Amino acid sequence: MSTELTWLGHSCFAICTEGCNLLVDPFLDDSPTAPLKADEIAADFVLLTHGHFDHVADAAAIATRTGATVVANFEIGEWLKGQGVAEENVVAMNTGGSAELAFGRAKMTLAHHSSGLPDGSYGGSAGGYILDLKGKRVYLAGDTSLFLDMKLYGMTGLDLAVLPIGDLFTMGPDDSIEAIKMLNPRQVVPCHYGTWPPISQDASAWADRVRSHTAAEPVVLAPGEKLRL
Ligand code: NI
Ligand code: MN
Repeated sequence: MSTELTWLGHSCFAICTEGCNLLVDPFLDDSPTAPLKADEIAADFVLLTHGHFDHVADAAAIATRTGATVVANFEIGEWLKGQGVAEENVVAMNTGGSAELAFGRAKMTLAHHSSGLPDGSYGGSAGGYILDLKGKRVYLAGDTSLFLDMKLYGMTGLDLAVLPIGDLFTMGPDDSIEAIKMLNPRQVVPCHYGTWPPISQDASAWADRVRSHTAAEPVVLAPGEKLRL
């Protein structure tokens, strides 16, 4: 059985694992780089890292249309119920906690970032996820700076790390190299760059640096492109 990860631009990813469709940080309708619209996507689970609009924009619409289960921190979970997502379709968690779900296990990790929701509601703490997808371990960093506990996440043995490299709002290329050294993943996919001019980056120059300074294989995707794990 295979797991495929598709970049949908910015920090939005579709992960198909053993026939289960996960959607991470859906930002499609207003994203300049998304290859499809929110009403075109299939989802069994929607995973949210934090409350910023470029991560939650289409979450409630997709969850209500598809009946997907939304996984988020407690505060965002409560907010989603107010946006019309059915209570039984919300899995609310918090930093350090894990949930056993149909696709595998999701642990909510630290992220150093903010998390205010689009309407000004309090969005709790920003986070990321370590996903155990039946044989593959994937770390989704979310929006974050570099932090030393990434070393602990690396000790779990990661097949893939998905890291922001855009700088300005998150770590940039320099800090991502230090993050990759600590995380020591087999492969690394960059995100949160190229959406708008303030976060433009040269991803192929980044990939060269990853190859020369770390043991990981960089995989630069174009929006809509897939990586088979
Ligand atoms: Ni953010
Ligand atoms: Mn963001």
